[in-house]
Amino acid sequence: MNIGKLNLHGNLVLAPMSGVTNLPLRLLCKKYGASLVYSEMISSEAVVRENHNSIALGLIAPQERPVGIQLMGSEPDTLQRSAQILEKIYRPDIIDLNCGCPAQEVVRSGCGCALLENSGIIREIIERLTGALKAPVTAKMRVLDSTDSTVEVAKTIEKAGASALTVHGRTQKQGYSGKVNLEIIKAIKSAISIPVIANGDIRDEKIASHMLHYTQCDGLMTGRAAIGDPYIFHRISHYLKTGEMLPQRTFDERLNDFFEYVKLCRRYDLLAFNDLKLKAQRFLKNRENIKCVRERLNGAVDVDSIMKIMEEAKAGTFQTSISTAPSSSVHMPLAPAISFLKKPFQYVRLCENYRATTYLL
Ligand SMILES: Cc1cc2nc3c(=O)[nH]c(=O)nc-3n(C[C@H](O)[C@H](O)[C@H](O)COP(=O)(O)O)c2cc1C
Repeated sequence: MNIGKLNLHGNLVLAPMSGVTNLPLRLLCKKYGASLVYSEMISSEAVVRENHNSIALGLIAPQERPVGIQLMGSEPDTLQRSAQILEKIYRPDIIDLNCGCPAQEVVRSGCGCALLENSGIIREIIERLTGALKAPVTAKMRVLDSTDSTVEVAKTIEKAGASALTVHGRTQKQGYSGKVNLEIIKAIKSAISIPVIANGDIRDEKIASHMLHYTQCDGLMTGRAAIGDPYIFHRISHYLKTGEMLPQRTFDERLNDFFEYVKLCRRYDLLAFNDLKLKAQRFLKNRENIKCVRERLNGAVDVDSIMKIMEEAKAGTFQTSISTAPSSSVHMPLAPAISFLKKPFQYVRLCENYRATTYLL
C-alpha cells in the first residue's frame, strides 16, 4: 500500500488508541509485522500551548518507522501550527486527523466525530495541513447513519488532499458496540481513489480476510485485539498470504511479549503503574486457569507488585495472598495527580484512560 510518497511493505496498520498505543506497544506491533503504526491522538490545542506531556506523546523511535502522529482538534490554524511543531520535532512519516473520537468531552469541543457534521471545516483543515506539511496527511473517520452522507464526507477528505482514509465502520452513537457496517466501508472504497483502510472488530485472521475481500479496501487497521497480543499482525499477514492459520501464542510466549514490553518501557522511561496494570491484564486475556493471577493483579498497587505477580505467573509459582501495601515506588503520588487534573486536556486524557481501563477490563 502506498500513502502519498510513502511505500509500505504491507497493508496492516495499528490503530491509534489514547492511553494505549505508546512507543513500546508500537514497537512490538512493528516487530510482529504491522506495516504502519499510529500514535495515540494528541490535542492540537495542548501542543500549541506547549504542554510538555502532550508534545512528549509524539516521541518516535527510528525502528518503528513509518509512523503516523494523530492530531485531535477543530480549529484549522491551531491544527496547522501544532502539526508543524510536531513535524519539526519528530519528523513523523504521516500526520493523521482524528474525525472519529466519540468521547463526549471531545465531541462537545467540536473535535473527533463532531467534524463529520461539518465538511467545510474538514476540508479547510486538510487543505491547511497538506499545504503546510512535508508528510502526507491522512484522516480517520467513523460512519454516519446514511451511506450517502458518509461517502460525501469521504469525497471531501479526498478532494482536500488527504493521501489515505481509515474508516471505522461504526457511528458515533454506537461507540464500541454493535455491528461494524461493512457496506458503508465498501461504498466509500468504490467512491474514492486514495487508499482506504477498513477498521473495526478485526479480532482474528478470518475476520481480517473477510473484511479485506468484502470491502475491497487497501488496508486493515487493528486496535483492541493487538493490545495484549501484538503477534496478531503476524498471524493475519501469514493467513492473508498463505490461507494457513498459525497457532495462538502460548501462555509463555504472551508473557515473554509482556516482559519485552516492560523492557521497552524502561528503555524509553515510559514505565507507569496504570499503563502497566492495563497491559498486564491484556497480555493475560483469554488465558484459562489463571483466575488467581488476575485477582492479584486487580489488587496490585505499584509497578513492583505487578512485576512480581507476572514473574510468578511465568515461573508457575503463584502466591495466594494479595499484598495491597504499597512498596517503595508508587508511580502516581497525590500532588502531581492533582496538578495533572487541573490541566483541561490532561483531564480529557484521564477520562479517556478511565474509559479505556473500564472498557478493556
Ligand atoms: C482505549 C481506546 C482508545 C482509542 N483512542 C483513539 C484515538 O486516540 N484516536 C482514534 O482515532 N481512535 C481511537 N480509538 C478507536 C480505535 O482506533 C479503533 O477505531 C476502534 O477501537 C475500532 O477498532 P478495533 O475494533 O480494532 O479496536 C480508541 C479505541 C480504544 C478502545
